[in-house]
Amino acid sequence: MQVQVVDHPLAAVALTVLRDERTARPQFRAALDDLASILVYEAARGLPTMPVSVTTPLATTTGTVLAAEPVVAPVLRAGLGMLPAALGLMPDARTAFIGLSRDEITFQPTVYLESVPADLAGRPVFLLDPMLATGGSALHALSLLTARGATGIVVVSVVAAPEGLDALERSGLDIRLVAAAVDERLNDVAYIVPGLGDAGDRIYGAV
Ligand code: PRP
Ligand code: URA
Repeated sequence: MQVQVVDHPLAAVALTVLRDERTARPQFRAALDDLASILVYEAARGLPTMPVSVTTPLATTTGTVLAAEPVVAPVLRAGLGMLPAALGLMPDARTAFIGLSRDEITFQPTVYLESVPADLAGRPVFLLDPMLATGGSALHALSLLTARGATGIVVVSVVAAPEGLDALERSGLDIRLVAAAVDERLNDVAYIVPGLGDAGDRIYGAV
C-alpha cells in the first residue's frame, strides 16, 4: 500500500478548522469541502489520460481527456461531505454509494446501502471517507469494490489512525491512501485521537 500524507499549508489550515471543537456545522462542511478538493486533486494525480485534438480560436493543438470515466464512492454518511469536491474536480465521474454504520460496541460496520456499478474493471475508483479508524469500514467498502473488478483503488481520508493503516496494509490489497494526517492512536471506543470527533455528526448533526 502506498500512503501519501498531503503536505500543503491550505490543507493544514482546513484540517485545523475541522479539528477545532468550536467549529459549527456550516464552517465544518465548508472546511471539509476545501480539504477534500486538495486531497482529491492529489489522489487523481495518476489518472490515465489520452490525447485529443482541440481547436483554439487560433490553431489546432493536442489536448487531454481522461482515458476512463472515474467512479467516486463515498462511504455514508461522512463520505458524502467529500463528494461535491470530488465531483467538482471530476464532473463526469459516476457515484457509487456505500452506506455503512459502525457498531458502537463491536466497532464492526453494518451495511445499509450498496449502490455500486456492477462492473468496475478498468475504471479508476476513489473511496471517500474522512475517517480511517479501525479500518473496518474501509475494508468492507474495498471488498465490495474489488469484488466488482476494481483495482488500484485510491482511498481518500482526512484523518487516519495507525491501527487503520495497519489493517489496510495487512489486507494485501493494491491500494493507495491519500490523507491529510496520520494521528496518534485510537481511544478505548475506537475514536481517533486527537482526530476531529464524529465526522458524520459534525457534518450533519447527531442522529
Ligand atoms: C465513521 C466514519 C467511517 C468509520 C470509520 O462512520 O465516517 O466510515 O466510522 O471507522 P472504522 O475505520 O473503525 O470503521 P460511522 O459508522 O460512525 O457512520 P456515519 O458516517 O454515518 O457517522
Ligand atoms: N468515526 C469518526 O467519525 N471519528 C472517529 O474518530 C472514528 C470513527
